[in-house]
Amino acid sequence: MSSVADLKPNQIAQYLDPPESSESLRPEAEVLFAEKRLQPRPLRELEGSSIVSVRDLTAEQVVELCRFAAVLEATEVASHHPLDGKIVLTAFFEASTRTRTSFESAALRLDAKIISIPEGQLTGVKKGESLADIGEMFNAYGDLVVMRHTETESIDEIQTRLRLPLINAGNGSGEHPTQALADWYVLLKWRPRLAEPDLPEEERLHLGILGTPGSMRAVKSFLLMSLLFQRSIRKVTVISEMADPFGADLVQDIQQAGIELEVTNDIQHSLPELDVIYMNSIAFLGDSYRSLGSRYKLDADSDLKPGSVILHPLARLDELSTNLDDTPHNLYFAQAHGAVFVRQALLLSLLGRLDRLPREIRLEA
Ligand code: CP
Repeated sequence: MSSVADLKPNQIAQYLDPPESSESLRPEAEVLFAEKRLQPRPLRELEGSSIVSVRDLTAEQVVELCRFAAVLEATEVASHHPLDGKIVLTAFFEASTRTRTSFESAALRLDAKIISIPEGQLTGVKKGESLADIGEMFNAYGDLVVMRHTETESIDEIQTRLRLPLINAGNGSGEHPTQALADWYVLLKWRPRLAEPDLPEEERLHLGILGTPGSMRAVKSFLLMSLLFQRSIRKVTVISEMADPFGADLVQDIQQAGIELEVTNDIQHSLPELDVIYMNSIAFLGDSYRSLGSRYKLDADSDLKPGSVILHPLARLDELSTNLDDTPHNLYFAQAHGAVFVRQALLLSLLGRLDRLPREIRLEA
């Protein structure tokens, strides 16, 4: 019987390895699918839907999207042209290095076509056009929309008229759900047993979050997705200058998950205990940005727990020193690279193209 192992390796995988001189991490993708076939049902359930929040995904779907992403990272599927005939519209009303280009790379490597709006002022917005009207136009132009916007309400506005599947690529201080998928994809490759429902206490993670989930969308989506893995997490420590770094809705989610939560402004005390440190540099305040306080910086001399890893959605400012880049605490480059494959897994699922994959992947029901 043929299997995923019989497929050719993905041509780009070799470029994702760190240089020999670097100790930065690049966990193997194969660990996520070597022992268990992909489960098509949770992926098929996503066909035609929109992902505007982590709340649009179940834990089962997150795990299966990550396992699917691992297959796509490790194996060659481009020659099967699985998104042939589909048009992905990327509409970015706020600057981006990673999210727009990784979505476009993901789509192009699967043979979709792209309509790319890299700057909102190139649309009728410059003349005062509403997002609702732009959404009505998009219905005729593509098959799926990926949108980023400075305004949290932008998702509701475009969805008043948009009937295509929508992926929220970051809305103001709202959410960034596909960033959270990239975050958990790299964590699951690093520690595959985190996907197991009943992890022994000693294997559960102490997560540290440097930032304010209430105003940092990547941090908020990471926290929300982490709550789906509540039985793999021992404790969450949020390190923030703000006394109340959450909005009311997040507090309710955390309470329902029953995870031990600590809020502190003392990074020195917490750092040596953390298994994973998630940091971000930028908080959104309307149409402006605020960076983390200057005392929340990590560098190679920080008192990091041996074996701990750092995640950062990037872009970084000076809170994350480049002298950590070649250390085994650096999981953030692998996190960024893996985003291409989780976005491929999501596009294939939302666009209903699982049946166009090589038969070795065997996604038949
Ligand atoms: N992680 C992230 O959202 O990066 P960009 O702002 O470059 O898209």
